[in-house]
Amino acid sequence: MNQLEEPMTKYRTVDSAECINLGQLRELQLQRLRRTLHHAYTNVPFYRHKFNELGVHPDDCRSLDDLAKFPTTTKADLRDNYPFGMFAVPQDQVRRIHASSGTTGEPTVVGYTANDIETWSNLVARCITAAGGRAGHKIHIAYGYGLFTGGLGAHYGAEKLGCTVIPASGGMTARQVRIIKDFEPDIIMVTPSYMLTLLDEFDRQGLDARETSLSIGILGAEPWTEEMRSEIESRTGIDALDTYGLSEVMGPGVAQEFRDTKDGPHIWEDHFIPEVLDPATGAVLDDGVEGDLTFTSLTKEAFPVIRYRTRDLTTLLPGTACENFRRIARVAGRSDDMIVLRGVNLFPTQIEELVVRSSDLSPHFRLILSKSGRLDRLAVEVEMRGDRTAEAGVRAAAELEASIKNSIGVSAAVAIVESGSLPRSDGKINRVVDQRR
Ligand code: DLL
Repeated sequence: MNQLEEPMTKYRTVDSAECINLGQLRELQLQRLRRTLHHAYTNVPFYRHKFNELGVHPDDCRSLDDLAKFPTTTKADLRDNYPFGMFAVPQDQVRRIHASSGTTGEPTVVGYTANDIETWSNLVARCITAAGGRAGHKIHIAYGYGLFTGGLGAHYGAEKLGCTVIPASGGMTARQVRIIKDFEPDIIMVTPSYMLTLLDEFDRQGLDARETSLSIGILGAEPWTEEMRSEIESRTGIDALDTYGLSEVMGPGVAQEFRDTKDGPHIWEDHFIPEVLDPATGAVLDDGVEGDLTFTSLTKEAFPVIRYRTRDLTTLLPGTACENFRRIARVAGRSDDMIVLRGVNLFPTQIEELVVRSSDLSPHFRLILSKSGRLDRLAVEVEMRGDRTAEAGVRAAAELEASIKNSIGVSAAVAIVESGSLPRSDGKINRVVDQRR
């Protein structure tokens, strides 16, 4: 049988990638990988030195397994080469620059050629399609526009698919609610935490968010939980799908959850090779084992990345909606953002899970880390839902303290704070205030 007669998946997206079978995909990856290794080696002194130091040459890559022989790249490497040292094309071929500030302040700068922008747009269009979007849909984009990749990345993808774009960007929340009401978008692309801010604004204006035209949300750019998905879906009636990406690798458009399966983002493996590495040793781990998600780009021109260690902790899972593309399990957070509290490792998403499960607590909370003598302390400040009584608050706080102790194993002091007093997200939320240093 002709290989092309063997369809790769049941789902149609916007390009031909899913019409190739697994053998053809691996062949394509190897061909693109070798080209990318040569491109990086020839045009980026950083990669050339790193490869030489390790005694490897792009010609040593004869199979996909050979990738493991090549050095990994870290965020520190990108910072050392700030701003343009990792670019692999002359500046006049760079059509766009984006930057991410990250949690530690120092920006990392990335660039795109005209072809890169085309590829990126196609991949975001593929994401929107996987999420159930179609040409003709109206898409409200509430990811921030600017150096952040979210807004413009989503924008170009949505236009590529043939959607009508509403470039709302982040902020001016009251106006966004009005736009959603009046312009009647089908899809919203937004961070989960800003979606909560929008929902509060619907409440404030006395509007029912379940009565909007929206039917799909494409949510990502920060960690969120299944509990948060349920919260958002029940308050809006939309299907809220997880979308994953990072600026160093491209921006949005790296991996997308399908509407039909809602079981974690599928990675577009014809453009990115994922690996999961042991965070301590850097050894390649088997699928199903949690570690540091690492990407090698296969088609990028201006900013190729070789084995870029995202520090996002997750596991690779078999593909479902799209059989040849593996999925990632929900990303709990970056290992850099992991809180170490008296020897226990903790991500804010673990607290989110417990807060959102409570019917008395609102999803608005933050974590305050402090020191008492030599002992680390964790306080959780959380707002109540609606107009619950003070007694309900006392009970909910005690229940949350107990569930944190039981499921995470740390003692936390839970304080109920006044409704509306905690900072709201206008993009990515930072839920941790660390007063220990
Ligand atoms: O956040 C790109 C993006 C924009 C993705 C819009 C999705 C939608 P950065 O600002 O470089 O890029 O941040 C990337 O955010 O390494 C993860 O730690 C986190 N992240 C992104 N998506 C998810 C997700 C964009 N779905 C960093 N779940 C990544 C958990 C996510 N974490």
